Amino acid sequence: MTSINKADVLLGLQWGDEGKGKIVDVLTPHYKMVARFQGGPNAGHTLVFEDKKFILHTIPSGIFHKGCLNVVGNGVVLDPFIISKELDQLKIPQEQLSESLFICGKAHLILPSHRLLDAAFEHRKGKLKIGSTLKGIGPAYTDKVARTGLRLADASMEDFPEKYKALKDEHFRLASSLDYNIDDLRLDGMDFAGYEKAWFEGLERLKSLPRIKSEVFVNEALDKGARVLAEGAQGTLLDIDFGSYPYVTSSNTITAGACIGLGLAPSRIGEVFGIFKAYCTRVGSGPFPTESHDAKGDILRDMGHEYGSTTGRPRRCGWLDLPALKYAVMINGVSRLIMTKADVLNTLPWIRVCTSYEIDGKQLDVYSSISGRENVKPVYREIKGWERSLEDVESFEQLPAGLLDYIVMIEEYTGVPVDIVSTGPDRKQTLFRRGSGILRRLTASYA
Ligand code: IMP
Repeated sequence: MTSINKADVLLGLQWGDEGKGKIVDVLTPHYKMVARFQGGPNAGHTLVFEDKKFILHTIPSGIFHKGCLNVVGNGVVLDPFIISKELDQLKIPQEQLSESLFICGKAHLILPSHRLLDAAFEHRKGKLKIGSTLKGIGPAYTDKVARTGLRLADASMEDFPEKYKALKDEHFRLASSLDYNIDDLRLDGMDFAGYEKAWFEGLERLKSLPRIKSEVFVNEALDKGARVLAEGAQGTLLDIDFGSYPYVTSSNTITAGACIGLGLAPSRIGEVFGIFKAYCTRVGSGPFPTESHDAKGDILRDMGHEYGSTTGRPRRCGWLDLPALKYAVMINGVSRLIMTKADVLNTLPWIRVCTSYEIDGKQLDVYSSISGRENVKPVYREIKGWERSLEDVESFEQLPAGLLDYIVMIEEYTGVPVDIVSTGPDRKQTLFRRGSGILRRLTASYA
């Protein structure tokens, strides 16, 4: 039997913000195509190089590498205004853009009135609010599943203005039934009418970009032997099915989401690279068993610059949750682990790691038994910190013994090797383990 060329998947194993953008950017030179498969502008993938910082929301993180084909798959939801702003920030010439960015016509549009609904629903929920990024993600996916949504391809049809108006009117009716005052709404500093105007300008720009059918485009590229990396957004613990529901996002953030959101058969999935931070963070509401409410949490937030790249909100910070990580490894079929932000722990004399939970007097070590539940007491193992800077460390093997022990403990718990450790935001601060599976995969010519 001849072997088939497969796409690798890279995704987050916690509550998002694991540093996916940076790692995709580092791996991209080894791939011909980078493809986003879910989520939308709720994501904020940060890339730092040549002393410049870029935050990508919808555009795949391969955009800065010449020759890389960047795909926005059918599973993504698109806000034309936000994409247009992103394109301005990138300053990539139009003709280069038309050779490097390809958007699926099946991807659904986030209408300005989806953002209105997001605000109205959160307002209505009061104390129970999810802490949404308010980018209209939930309402846009709701319309997709309800079969009432509008796709990018619809925008080129003659009847688009009527369809747009009918859906918008429906959204307004719903918002007024929720007692939401539209005059309170500010969308990127604009009122509804101002935003809608800018949105339509963005839509014209989006329509001028190459349109694809992602299932055909990606599978054909694989057939021709191209190396493809599917880039996830958010994280496994925010998955609509397997996250801490209802405090989740509205898409499947897991490996299976790459199949749905690009049109890939499961047999076409190759390696799964799972990214996790050396500690944990969460933005918005919902259970977070290892959240640190004391000064250590503040240290993690300050050292790790843990403020949302999309909303600027301070992130909740806490310790690494091993049962949750093991759960994410299982759900995604992770084959290689990538640890980010190890340097944030540098100054701590001791580090806590959660190895099981206590709830109602019972000890449990399976995340699925406590997912979504409050009042879970984490059971910690305390380990000695390495208490030194990693700035002079040039290879994985040179990492301080304390950090290497920490890595071994994670590998033993999850059963998966840690192949990359990131020690800072710059591309250069990325250490590959010598002889690791990731290196072998990146240098192999065919799957
Ligand atoms: P939404 O997807 O914007 O509706 O947000 C739902 C939940 O997911 C909220 O708790 C958000 O803070 C969280 N969330 C959404 N996108 C991201 C992300 O990219 N990183 C981290 N958290 C996110």
